[in-house]
Amino acid sequence: MRVKKLMFVMLMAFLCGSMASAQDYKYIGAAKCKMCHNKPAKGEQYNKWKAAPHSKAMLSLKSEKSLAYAKEHGIADPSKDAKCLKCHSTAGAVDPSLRAGIRIEEGVSCESCHGPGSVYKSMSIMKDREKALQNGLIMPTKEVCEKCHNKENPFYKPFNFEEFYAKIAHPDPTLKK
Ligand code: HEC
Ligand code: HEC
Ligand code: HEC
Ligand code: HEC
Repeated sequence: MRVKKLMFVMLMAFLCGSMASAQDYKYIGAAKCKMCHNKPAKGEQYNKWKAAPHSKAMLSLKSEKSLAYAKEHGIADPSKDAKCLKCHSTAGAVDPSLRAGIRIEEGVSCESCHGPGSVYKSMSIMKDREKALQNGLIMPTKEVCEKCHNKENPFYKPFNFEEFYAKIAHPDPTLKK
């Protein structure tokens, strides 16, 4: 009896432990990042993203070009089709269980590049770069861009990191490199 109980306790401890380590970071949406990342003195990252093409990626799936392509390839509605959403929407590319406040309409949002923010978003973690990186924050390199900027895209344009990054850069002038 005792042994069984002990084994049960050990099993539970094991299960809880593995659940915590396999914790899924969730996607919280750009509006949450905006609360802390939209001050002009710190580079207003949210406004820069909002003005650039990534935030408008869902509109492209409703354009004439998309509709013509869809008709030709038997796609009923590109703005609802997983084949297009996988690169045009951060929320649309992930399992619904991982969406915590993010909307499909946000298009390619902060978290496609910086990783899902449900845990790193808290001030105590964010202000410590190492801690943030340990809790899901990504400082993206070329490889992150190439998950979408590749020839699987029906309207692919040759991708050059330096040139493309310059068009979407949103540095914080107060941070030391
Ligand atoms: C509660 C406020 C807060 C929220 C919410 C927040 N951040 Fe931050 N973030 C900070 C602070 C503070 C820093 C540290 C740098 C600084 O002082 O600007 C930081 C740093 C960062 C950095 C790293 C800068 C560097 O070079 O070290 C990135 C990238 C970043 N945040 C992205 C995000 C994203 C994406 C979201 C939303 C998913 C988000 N943050 C939400 C406050 C926040
Ligand atoms: C989740 C997929 C995804 C990732 C990751 C991604 N992009 Fe994009 N990017 C897109 C989509 C989709 C568009 C088209 C937006 C639109 O106009 O509809 C785009 C458009 C752009 C454009 C505008 C291109 C043009 O022809 O005007 C630039 C510049 C760009 N991305 C740079 C980058 C850089 C730099 C990175 C990496 C730091 C990156 N992207 C990561 C999906 C992505
Ligand atoms: C592998 C990622 C990926 C997939 C899959 C993808 N796209 Fe895109 N799409 C992009 C990127 C990245 C851009 C920006 C152009 C560039 O720099 O290559 C883009 C741009 C576009 C544009 C703007 C083109 C222009 O020049 O004006 C349209 C329209 C578009 N995509 C429609 C679609 C449709 C419809 C689907 C689904 C059938 C789709 N895309 C699937 C990544 C993708
Ligand atoms: C297409 C990819 C992409 C998207 C979308 C994106 N970022 Fe970034 N972000 C980057 C890259 C690349 C860097 C530079 C990384 C580096 O310096 O190592 C960066 C840097 C940053 C920094 C640090 C600036 C610094 O000077 O160190 C902050 C803060 C940040 N992003 C916040 C955001 C927020 C908030 C959003 C959404 C509103 C967002 N980013 C959307 C790719 C992206």
